[in-house]
Amino acid sequence: MSDTQQIKEKIDIVELISEYISLKPSGINHKGLCPFHNEKSPSFMVNRERQSWHCFGCNKGGDVFTFVEEIEGLDFVESLRLLAKKAGIELTTLQKDVHKSQKNRIKDINRLAATFYHNFLIKMAPAQEARDYLLNRGMTTDTLEKWQVGYVVDQWDLLTKYMLKKGHSIDDLVASGLTIKRDNANPQTFKGFYDRFRGRIIFPIQNVHGDVVGFTARVLKESKDSGGKYINTPQTLVFDKSQVVFGLYHAKNAIRAEKLAIFVEGQTDVISCHQAGSSNVVATSGTALTQGHIKLIKRYSNNIAFCFDADSAGIDAAKRAIGIALEEGLNVKIIRIAREMGKDPDEVIKKDRALWTSLVENAQDVMSWYFQIAFQRSDLSNPKIKQEIANELLPEIKKIPYAVEREHWIQELSNRVGVEISVLKDEMARFDLKKETFQPVSEKKKAPQVPLKPQKRSDLLIERFLSITLKYLKTFDSQQISAKMDEALSTSSFGPLYLAIKKGYNDGQLSIDILRESCDQKTSENPVDILLLRADLDFSDYNEGIAQEESKKLLFQIEREWEKERRKLLESQIQSAESAKDKTRLDELMRALISLD
Ligand code: GTP
Ligand code: MN
Repeated sequence: MSDTQQIKEKIDIVELISEYISLKPSGINHKGLCPFHNEKSPSFMVNRERQSWHCFGCNKGGDVFTFVEEIEGLDFVESLRLLAKKAGIELTTLQKDVHKSQKNRIKDINRLAATFYHNFLIKMAPAQEARDYLLNRGMTTDTLEKWQVGYVVDQWDLLTKYMLKKGHSIDDLVASGLTIKRDNANPQTFKGFYDRFRGRIIFPIQNVHGDVVGFTARVLKESKDSGGKYINTPQTLVFDKSQVVFGLYHAKNAIRAEKLAIFVEGQTDVISCHQAGSSNVVATSGTALTQGHIKLIKRYSNNIAFCFDADSAGIDAAKRAIGIALEEGLNVKIIRIAREMGKDPDEVIKKDRALWTSLVENAQDVMSWYFQIAFQRSDLSNPKIKQEIANELLPEIKKIPYAVEREHWIQELSNRVGVEISVLKDEMARFDLKKETFQPVSEKKKAPQVPLKPQKRSDLLIERFLSITLKYLKTFDSQQISAKMDEALSTSSFGPLYLAIKKGYNDGQLSIDILRESCDQKTSENPVDILLLRADLDFSDYNEGIAQEESKKLLFQIEREWEKERRKLLESQIQSAESAKDKTRLDELMRALISLD
């Protein structure tokens, strides 16, 4: 049996997916909110027996492997590796390939480098200054161990030489970002290659599975030419800073348990919060928050709290982060550190652990935070300032999807700036959420939005007919299918499936398994699975009799729709034949048009 088959037998798809989202039984399937797009009512279906999943909202679907690839952002080999580990299966066929991929070699290099830097910090004499610094900052030896904190002295190529000795290639080292290559470098003599991280405290960055994917390194002593305070691994095959959340590997269980993820600004803040027992804290690594970060967090909790600096850069960062988190449907709160309490969570928690806890417990709602920020302005009696405040707050109020809440905040704004509610409402109506600007007063409302991907009505009808047919196979009767219906069905995108049903019916062996096999395209999802899930979504309360009637109705609609589309097509072809003065073609087309009636 192949590795993939073995894994599929051992892994229960419902259990696997339940690790990420909550699923509820729905007929013979399970149903939940799709993790791949934002939705309020569930259209994500899982079928245990067929080991398949599909979302009818965003149209993604597949098997255990594609699910893991999609949700973890892995390639196939990596998802295989992960699932094999889960299933307790030793990979046989792929093992060699797995070790060959550069991605995995870079992960090995990173792991070894983390150990090297950590041992250097703990054991080597020249690291005394770094050890003193870290202990002075209150990091315990347990913490240094847990986070594999490291250090390396300021020398050109200590790590690169060590890695070469361990048998790693210079190409892989450069690809890992740990070694930098000068333009004139010579790969034979290794001249012109040097270490990226030198004379710095080094924090490994782990992905959510605990693999070291990169590093962030802080200067020990800031000087004119020490470079940035922090430097990071550049983008590599395994490191994309917009997709990694620092600390999440150590935080994920606490985030789940406490139903809250706290985002802070600095990596050292994360470490010191964890040390103080506040383990649901994470950070980005020297980059603004992205949708990728939020999607990762969403696997563990729908509640997020931001604790950013109170300076203007921190406020801007918080506003952007709030926007992204709200768009992803999370509940967002803001943790505010008043100036006198300290400059960041690290300082607060060291001064007073209980204070940090109470700051977290008293996290503000987004809207009251926006109000607080807006009203920090000095001269509130100045009409220009009032307008500024309104301009800042009205767009945020407009975004609130609940009428009562919206009304509450307009009232609040009206009270505080001393302006009539109706005036504020007029002003709010002028704000265009899409363009993020206020429209001139005269401009009329926008035309209604066009749906993203218009689907032909006939396609929808055919999809419905086939899914009902698959669920109630006995209702299929080729006697009921007219020539026009047959043509409509066999030329649609579901043509092959329809033909397989017809053949199965004529051969007297119509079964789901045979149909599945006939439609199996290996790489993508089996249409039979998608349609069956669709049927469970739409027709779970039907019985055979109702299904029969419904499918008859659908066939007639398909026929009518096909005629309509055909007529339209012929008419436009007739027009062009006319203007081309193509007599024979015109004749042919007219005949076809007449034969439609
Ligand atoms: P400590 O000063 O050691 O307490 O570190 P910190 O993590 O509190 O740093 P700070 O508040 O100065 O900065 C917050 C975060 O911004 C850091 O953790 C980094 O991720 C990032 N950062 C700060 N300085 C730099 C820099 O020079 N370059 C880059 N890329 N990121 C930086
Ligand atoms: Mn700090």
